[in-house]
Order: sequence, then C-alpha cells, then structure tokens
Amino acid sequence: MCGIVGCVLKNRKAAPILLDCISKLEYRGYDSVGIATADDNGIHLKKDSGKIEEVNNKIDLGEMPGEFGIAHVRWATHGIPSKENSHPHTDNSENIAVVHNGIIENYAEIKESLESEGFVFKSQTDTEVIPILIEKFMDKGFDLEESLRKTVEMINGSYAIGAISKDNPKEIVAARKDSPLIVGVGDFDFFIASDAPAILNYTNNIIYVDNGEFVVLNEEGAVIKDSDGNIVDKKIEVINWTADMAQKEGYDYFMLKEIHEQDQVIRDTLSEKDNISEIVSKLDDINRICFVACGTSYHASLTGKYLIESMAGIPTDVILASEFKYSANALDDKTLTIFISQSGETADTLKALRRANKTSKTLAIVNVLGSSATREAEFVIYTRAGPEIGVAATKTYISQLVCIYLFAAILADNDEILNRLEIIPDYILDVLNKEDEIKEIAYKYKDAKDFFFIGRGLAYPTALEGALKLKEITYIHGEGYAAGELKHGPLALIDKKIPVVVVVPPGNGYDKTMSNLEEVRARGADVITIGPCGVEAIKRESKDSFCVNNEVDEIIAPLVYVVPLQLLSYYVSIERNLDPDKPKNLAKCVTVE
Ligand code: G6P
Repeated sequence: MCGIVGCVLKNRKAAPILLDCISKLEYRGYDSVGIATADDNGIHLKKDSGKIEEVNNKIDLGEMPGEFGIAHVRWATHGIPSKENSHPHTDNSENIAVVHNGIIENYAEIKESLESEGFVFKSQTDTEVIPILIEKFMDKGFDLEESLRKTVEMINGSYAIGAISKDNPKEIVAARKDSPLIVGVGDFDFFIASDAPAILNYTNNIIYVDNGEFVVLNEEGAVIKDSDGNIVDKKIEVINWTADMAQKEGYDYFMLKEIHEQDQVIRDTLSEKDNISEIVSKLDDINRICFVACGTSYHASLTGKYLIESMAGIPTDVILASEFKYSANALDDKTLTIFISQSGETADTLKALRRANKTSKTLAIVNVLGSSATREAEFVIYTRAGPEIGVAATKTYISQLVCIYLFAAILADNDEILNRLEIIPDYILDVLNKEDEIKEIAYKYKDAKDFFFIGRGLAYPTALEGALKLKEITYIHGEGYAAGELKHGPLALIDKKIPVVVVVPPGNGYDKTMSNLEEVRARGADVITIGPCGVEAIKRESKDSFCVNNEVDEIIAPLVYVVPLQLLSYYVSIERNLDPDKPKNLAKCVTVE
C-alpha cells in the first residue's frame, strides 16, 4: 500500500538507484510512480500514473541529475491514479518534495486552512498538505527537520514520510507513525525504505525506525531521533535475506516462483520448532486461544482453530482483524491472542494487536523480519518464507500453516504430527511435478464467470483460500463454502457449467463430501475434484480431477491440497492475459484500516 525509498549517495547519480529500489517495492502499489532528486539547480521531478515499466518507457525515470532523492509507488487512497496525484508532491515554490505512505485523516481541514492563506493545491491527495506545511514552516525560518516535526504535529493518521529540499543538499528527513520505515546503512550510501527487499542490492545493514521517530540522512550516515529531538541509539541489524531472493530467477512471474519454493519453505520453517517449544512452555495457564488476521492469513487462522481444538482441546476463536474491536471483549490473561500476518504491518491487524496487548498474552506469526507486529507482540514466531513479492500470498500461507501445525502439535504433545510434517515437502514436489495437468484444467475453465470451492473440516479453509486466490488474480467470482452448507442457499445458484472445485482428502469427511459432489453434479455443475490418487469413483464422478498422493489424509491435507488450487488460479490468470503478480485494486501490504 504505497512504497517509499530515498537515498543519499557518494559520487553517483541517485535516479537509477532509486528506480531499481522502487521496482522492488512495486508489490506495494503500482498505479503510479515518481522520483524526485535535487542538485544545485533545484528539485528535479518525474512522475506519472501507470506501472513502473510503462512510465519508465515514457519518461526515462533513471535519467535525472542529483546524488540524492526520493521515490514512490502509489496505491491510490485519495484521488484517482493520475500524474497530478502521483508522488513525489512538491510545495508551491517547488523547492521541497515529499513522498508519503499512509493516510492523513485531517487533511481536508488543513487543506482548507492553507488555501485560505493563499496556498494552491495541484492534486486531490491527502499527501500534498505535507510539502505545503513544510514550506510554510521553512518560510518562517525553521530548517527542514524542524519543519517536518512541526508538520507531523499537525497531522493525524498514519505515515512514513521522506522529504528533501533544494536548500538542504544531500539530506533526507523522514518520519514514521504506523506505516513501516527502515534505514539502510551502506559504507558510503544511505537509504530509507518501506521495507528491506527494496535496498538489498546495496546493503543488508538495517535499522528499524519505530513509531514517533525521525530520521536525518546525509553523507555522514543516518541519525535517528525521538519525538523530542533526542538522538536514539539504534541497533543496526544485519539481515540474511539476499537480493536474489527477491528476483524472478527465470520464472515468468513471482507468484509461480513462490509456489515452486514451497517445499523448501516448509523445510526452513520447520526450524522454528525449538522457538515454538520454548514459547509453548511459557503458556501453561492459557485456557482459550483467539486468532486474529486478514485475507489469506485469516484462512491459515481458521485451519489453526480446527487443529488446536481437535488436537489440544483448547477452545479457539478466529476473528477478522477489521472486526476485532467490535466483538472481542472476552480476552483475559488466560487468553492467548495469535496474530497472523505475512507483512506484520497490516493496519487492521496492528490495531487489534495493540488492543489485545492490554488484556491478553499475544503471539505474532509473521514473515517480515523486524516488522511492527514482531516488535509489539509478547511472543514471535517467524515464518521462514523469505521475501514474497506476488501480491497473492502463496508460500507465506504454507509457512503460516507449518507454524500453526508445529504450535498445535507441541501444545498437544503430538509427535506423530511432528514427524509427518517432515514428509510434506515431498508431497508438494509430487504436485508440482504434475503442474501440466492443472494447466490443462485452467485452460478449459478460463472463461467461466463463477466458480464454487467446497470442502469439509480442515478442507473448508483450503476451499476458502482457493476461492480467494481465484478472485484476487483472475477477477472471476469464486465462492468458498463449507460443503455441508451448500444446501442451505448456494445450491440455488448451481447450474449447468458452473465449475465446482471439490476438495476431498481421505478421512472422516470423505464420504459426506462425495455426497455433496453428487448434489452439485445432479444440478449440472462441472465438477473438478482435488482428491486422493487411485480412486475410481472420483474419476468417474468428476468432469476433471487432479490427484494428490493418497497418504495425504485430511489432517495434513491443508499443507498440500492448496498447491493445486494456487496453480489453478495462476494458470487461469495467465490464460486470461492478466498479471498475477499485480492484481488490480489490491496491494500486498494494506496499511490503512
Ligand atoms: C492483503 C494482501 C493479502 C493478505 C492480506 C493480509 O489483502 O493482498 O495477500 O493476505 O493483505 O496481509 P498480512 O500481511 O497481514 O498477512
């Protein structure tokens, strides 16, 4: 949801480096892009609506003078995607340029008051008040840093802001509240960015900026200050992600690469076992668990409820993060609230975490190292998936599930499950080896208008996740339903030729799900079954089917059965000539409520 970077470099031009860095953040927003640099001649600005590649082909973003600057990719909140609404935004005298990720809630009243003082606005964005307020304070004699401080005192909302001025050569000032911001410390080059993958080509030395802190970046390095202007001694953390991890490595899209990384991601995430055992050892007295998450992470949480209740017998709820404040009033110190988030920066999830911290124990299961959730929760488990660039989550979902399986099994002393997790990567490789079969199914159904996905028990969240993937990247309506619930409404929609994907692993739910399959088949639906290999009935009763190793029973099925569903959506998206990595209207990290 918008990405920002900035850099101060020694003896080389900033624009090509900014272009490279901002390209790594395109997953955060891709409806507009812009770069501002500065030198003795003032501010240089290039920006427009469109994806980075399109805009760059038009106006050559890497070709600008100046050895320092800022850049932005936008995911529109206030104002349509257009050149005027693209960042960086400038003040009226065009001496100051600003990039911003977040939302200024009281921008309308500030804008009205600035307009009454004679300032002119060129865009419909909330952000434009920032450079104009900075201009106003600089006109009164304050320097850039003080002017930014005074500006943020006036604004409500969330922000990661980077600002430059033609009067402050080789300086970037930045501020953070509720939107992510890091600092990169190279030998001679210094950076700010929304997250680490943006700058991994240049440095692995990262400082995580906390809420309320300010950054002054210049040729000498980075200084972090608190809200009173005192210098804060921050630790530089060396992260072990590499720039290669954020490259496509021969795959057409990141999503496909990330789907193919899932066997390795499981092996890596299993290394969290000792950490999870230690956390579980501190949770003797909990008598209730409450998961809180959004999107794909919510589906991982639903799987967690089934696992924990059935294995450990602890009552478990699952609440959408955006609904948390309306319903979760029964937390106490015997409740463990588990927050699942790939980014660790989702605004709804963070708000809920802050609320839960007051009354319950909190645990965050997060992929992005050092993100806000990891710093605010009492306990942290890292999903070891590496950077995920495709907007639609795939490998991070699998790694969240692995953490949940480990957690539930350790809580329940279930060694059998712990042992079975070791074999999951092989089952996933089996599925990936038969990718062409899914490709063929995708080709057949690429023009469908609606899909249903059904499953029972642990296969139900898998069906929901299959439907979400389809909606996200193919723009086809996909509805996930509990197989047994279809007859209470949606069966009325089932018609000739509606594809119904039936997720039916072997186990207790198998026979009943097969009956549900018959119900939709009897109404003319095109049944696509994902079930165990070697079952004649499945082939006979389905229009199309894909089979998974029949050792994968319903208990471990969520970790394997989702993979053909991810591939199905991916290939339907490709057949429809869409970009699965950058679905329209969506962003990977949603930092607004
Ligand atoms: C956005 C992304 C989804 C993701 C959801 C929750 O909607 O597009 O892929 O599942 O946010 O994100 P989180 O980082 O909290 O897991």
